[in-house]
Amino acid sequence: MLVSATEMLNKAVAGKYAVGQFNINNLEWTKAILATAEECKSPVILGVSEGAGKYMTGFKTVAAMVKAMIEEMNITVPVALHLDHGTYEGCYKCIEAGFSSVMFDGSHFPIEENVEKTKELVKVCHEKGISIEAEVGSIGGEEDGVIGAGEIADPNECKKIADLGVDFLAAGIGNIHGKYPANWKGLDFDALAKTKELIGDLPLVLHGGTGIPADMIKKAISLGVAKINVNTECQLYFQEATRKYIEAGKDLEGKGFDPRKLLKPGTDAIMVIVKEKMELFGSVGKA
Ligand code: 13P
Repeated sequence: MLVSATEMLNKAVAGKYAVGQFNINNLEWTKAILATAEECKSPVILGVSEGAGKYMTGFKTVAAMVKAMIEEMNITVPVALHLDHGTYEGCYKCIEAGFSSVMFDGSHFPIEENVEKTKELVKVCHEKGISIEAEVGSIGGEEDGVIGAGEIADPNECKKIADLGVDFLAAGIGNIHGKYPANWKGLDFDALAKTKELIGDLPLVLHGGTGIPADMIKKAISLGVAKINVNTECQLYFQEATRKYIEAGKDLEGKGFDPRKLLKPGTDAIMVIVKEKMELFGSVGKA
């Protein structure tokens, strides 16, 4: 059964650890992440971007697949199915499709509009027992080969959005999606501490979990980060394992690729990196 992410993240704040959000793109990634969470006895959040949702033919397919896999794989740990960086319309689609959690990314709207839309979505989500994440200060990243710096969220704006009743909040603290550039200044812990002071025990979310050094991850958790998103690192592990498999020529058995064999090394590699992250975040054994 799917659960909202609220309880698992409140527990994480109290226990000073973080729950990983790992993005899914297909059945194999979902299977790898669910199997690892069960093995590690860790709660887990499956993130779905709007693009990944479309790729999998729609959010209804995703919700049905994840629910069925939880049952067929006998998964006992808490699993939340979460829309990642949702648009206003995307949030409504996921609520209808049976997601247990959504992120409304209103960070590109003027703050008044972000407030208005977030308030409305908080009400709708909570009526249905769905958790909701909001974002303040856009998370940078690579676009057309240019890596934008991560914006630092204004702690007062964070407080304003937190007060709308969201269940967890993504505050930009210099983090970016994808690989970090060589001249990256690191996370802004002063901004994080100021935000934490204003919002109290509300769980904070760290996007762009790929490539942040372990000591920074630990410090962020000590300052109230309870959810850490990882996507690119899973892709990199998947790519490397698949490349090695193809280069080894194991696919050449006269029948072309057997998709199950072709995708297995990448799927196994995702299990390795997800386990490593769960250990680093401290969520192992917390289910
Ligand atoms: P990375 O791709 O940098 O791991 O970030 C993932 C993320 O924040 C998804 O919202």
